Amino acid sequence: MVEMSKEILFSRVAIQKRVKEIASQISKDYAGRELVVIGILKGAFIFMADLVREISVPCRIDFARLASYGTGSESSGKVVMTKDIETSIKDRDILIVEDIVDTGLTLQYLVDWLKERNPRSLKTCVFLDKRKRRKISFEANYVGFTIDDGFVVGYGLDFNEQFRFSPDIYIINTN
Ligand code: XMP
Ligand code: MG
Repeated sequence: MVEMSKEILFSRVAIQKRVKEIASQISKDYAGRELVVIGILKGAFIFMADLVREISVPCRIDFARLASYGTGSESSGKVVMTKDIETSIKDRDILIVEDIVDTGLTLQYLVDWLKERNPRSLKTCVFLDKRKRRKISFEANYVGFTIDDGFVVGYGLDFNEQFRFSPDIYIINTN
């Protein structure tokens, strides 16, 4: 059994406040348009559900599933798509929603993949940004919070499939 301690990083109250701020910015930026919001499974499901309910422009919803982490907290560095989107995105405004950007490889992979289908515009929205861990230069268009290195869980994020359901975000230490 792994010994684990966890410490709160963002409370549910702080999270909901920040989600409302991002949603209000997105609503302004896309005023009068319609969005196709694409969530990356599984981690983004809670953030995306909260975000689209606060956005005031109409949203179509779809999901892709990409994997780079096997188990535990170390990335394999190789991204694989295990589920593609099912919506036609040609000439539409696309917003990719992700829980966290770390090396940048996952989001860059999906951005490149979707750009091939000629959307009208394509932006990215991440709740957490581990900016210092990038392996490639990647900037998300909307960021909830920038964080230092350390493994975080809760609000959709997991450690070996545990803690996704937590409404608060924790930083965990495994020894
Ligand atoms: P990259 O490195 O491709 O990684 O930007 C993005 C994916 O890595 C996972 N990831 C985390 N998952 N706590 C997690 O639960 C973390 O601290 C963490 N850092 C990276 C996540 O699945 C994300 O989609
Ligand atoms: Mg993820």
